[in-house]
Amino acid sequence: MSEQLLKKVRHEFTAIYNYEPTGVWSAPGRVNLIGEHTDYNEGFVFPFAINRSTFATISLRADNLIRVASSFSPVTHEIDVRNIQKSEENQWAAYPFGVAWAIQQMSDVQATGFDCFIESDVPVGAGLSSSAAIECAVGVALNELWNAGLTKPQLAKAGQLAENEIVGAPTGIMDQSASLLGKKDHGVFLDCQSLEAEVVELGFAKAGLELLIIDTKVAHRHADGGYASRRAACELGAKTMGVPSLRYLTSADLHKAQELLDDVTFRRVRHVVTENERVLKTVERLKEQGPKSIGDLMYASHQSMRDDFEISVDELDEAVKIAEGFGAIGARMTGGGFGGAAIALVPSELIDQMTVAIKYAFKQGGFIEPNIFAVTAADGAARV
Ligand code: GLA
Repeated sequence: MSEQLLKKVRHEFTAIYNYEPTGVWSAPGRVNLIGEHTDYNEGFVFPFAINRSTFATISLRADNLIRVASSFSPVTHEIDVRNIQKSEENQWAAYPFGVAWAIQQMSDVQATGFDCFIESDVPVGAGLSSSAAIECAVGVALNELWNAGLTKPQLAKAGQLAENEIVGAPTGIMDQSASLLGKKDHGVFLDCQSLEAEVVELGFAKAGLELLIIDTKVAHRHADGGYASRRAACELGAKTMGVPSLRYLTSADLHKAQELLDDVTFRRVRHVVTENERVLKTVERLKEQGPKSIGDLMYASHQSMRDDFEISVDELDEAVKIAEGFGAIGARMTGGGFGGAAIALVPSELIDQMTVAIKYAFKQGGFIEPNIFAVTAADGAARV
């Protein structure tokens, strides 16, 4: 974090609360290289933390009051630390409130109130987990200030619990795990059943590649119905197939699945089963042959999300198509879907012309101008 930004967030905190904060904690957003909608099916994911972060400036209070303010809203939200509940009124503050609640559920801390100011350069609604970044920045801060003693994987769980119970989005554990366990130039290969994580070198820069984000600016929200209905279809598929989760199925089971399931449920299941296999192949190929060898898996993942899981939108399909036409190694939509961003793994020398081509195609198609930028893999959440 630059000295300037650090000064700025401390200054903002002091301007709002009239005293100096104890410290600043930061947590990155994430991009998922591959493994979509596999986390809540106890499968595999391979995201990485990005060089865009949320900063939480926090001081504990002597009473039970929690106050949270941010650079992106004029409102300071308040709640009693002992009485945090799901409510529309929480708005974005449901993320920090939710984490404060979850840490109390998962440990025996004597929680006190706190004042918090949040600043972030993770774009909101782009599928880059701006919300998990808030949860994880506040999570590492409270874990330290309250002496809760939770490990990073436990803090990821706390973030997921916050999201599920206080925000009301039935999401999995990928985003928080990436934000907490990320490592510079590495991806986080996570088994969402055992929660064992392995960091694997990406080697993009060494191979002359960059990872481009194409934020379509089509906003998405996982508390809306699409995400939950996909999750429900996966649960129905697993139940009908007689397994605890789709993790237990492989491609060899798809024939039977097609016989037993209705067409839509079958295609949802096929996406998850093949996506798990693609994650394993991606990690294997990355280790053995480097990043230039993973492109076809990224394209196949996109196709599967477009046709089988049906979570893509025209803007994402267009971005992937143009990226492929202009020489990307691989490209796919990333995150929960229904909007958000696509990623493209691109030789550095092609970035400029690809950016122009995608912007031109979006204009021709009558879409909003996308925000296109490169990201690198960064370290996970920590005190600044
Ligand atoms: C969102 C959720 C994650 C995961 C992805 C889809 O980002 O928060 O848990 O399910 O969608 O892969």
